[in-house]
Amino acid sequence: MAKKIVITIDGWSSCGKSTLAKQLSQKLGYLYVDSGAMYRAITLYFLRNNIDWAEKKEVKEALKSINLEFVFNPKSDSSEMYLNGENVEYVIRDLLIAEKVSDVAAIKEVREFAVAQQQKMGTQKGIVMDGRDIGTVVFPKAELKIFMTADNAIRVQRRFKELYEKNPNITVEEVKDNLEMRDYIDSHREVSPLRKAKDALELDNTNLTEKEQFNKALGWAKEKIG
Ligand code: DC
Repeated sequence: MAKKIVITIDGWSSCGKSTLAKQLSQKLGYLYVDSGAMYRAITLYFLRNNIDWAEKKEVKEALKSINLEFVFNPKSDSSEMYLNGENVEYVIRDLLIAEKVSDVAAIKEVREFAVAQQQKMGTQKGIVMDGRDIGTVVFPKAELKIFMTADNAIRVQRRFKELYEKNPNITVEEVKDNLEMRDYIDSHREVSPLRKAKDALELDNTNLTEKEQFNKALGWAKEKIG
C-alpha cells in the first residue's frame, strides 16, 4: 500500500488554496479539511449569540457550547461545515463573516480549540489541510508543505467573482478592502501568524492555470509519497 502523508497548504486569502487542496485530496483519496471554515463557524456562533470576544471568560464559556463537524455531501462531492448540527457551509462564506473572522481567529483560546481538533483529524495521515498556520503550528512535521501566493489584483478579482454570484450588490472595493484587512491581521497577530514554514515549497499561481498549478503540486506530492 502507498505511504500516506500529510499535506499542508497555507497562504494569503483567496489564493486558491481550497481549490488545490480539494483537487489533491480527490486525486490521492485523502481527507480534505478546510480549517478556515472552522474559524468562520466559530465567528458565526459568536455573532449570533452576541459574544463579546474581547472578554476571555465569555469566549471560554462560548467555546464549550460549540460543536464543529465536517460532513461529506455526495451531491457537492465535498465536506461541509456543521455548527451544532446545522449545515452552515453557505452562510459562513458571507462577507459579514469575512469582516470579523480574522479578529476571532486571532484569539488564543479560539486557536487552541480549533488546532486541537485539526491535529486529531491528522493522526492517521492521508490528509490535505489548508489554512494559515497548518505547516507551522498544526502539522509542523508534515511531509509536504505548500505556501501559496498570487498577485493582489488577481486575488481580488477571483474573490469578487465568487462573492458576486451570491450577492450582486457587492463591490470590488469592498472585496479588496476585506482581503487587505484580513491579510494584515492574519500575518501580524501575536498567536500563530501567517508565515511560510522554512521547509515549505512556494507556489505562486499568478500566471498559472488551475491545471498547471495542480500538476505542479501533484508532482511534489508524488515525490514525497515515493
Ligand atoms: O481560508 P479562509 O479565508 O476561509 O479563512 C478565514 C479566516 O480564518 C482567515 O482570515 C484567517 C483565519 N484562519 C486562520 O487564522 N488559521 C487557519 N488555519 C485558517 C484560517
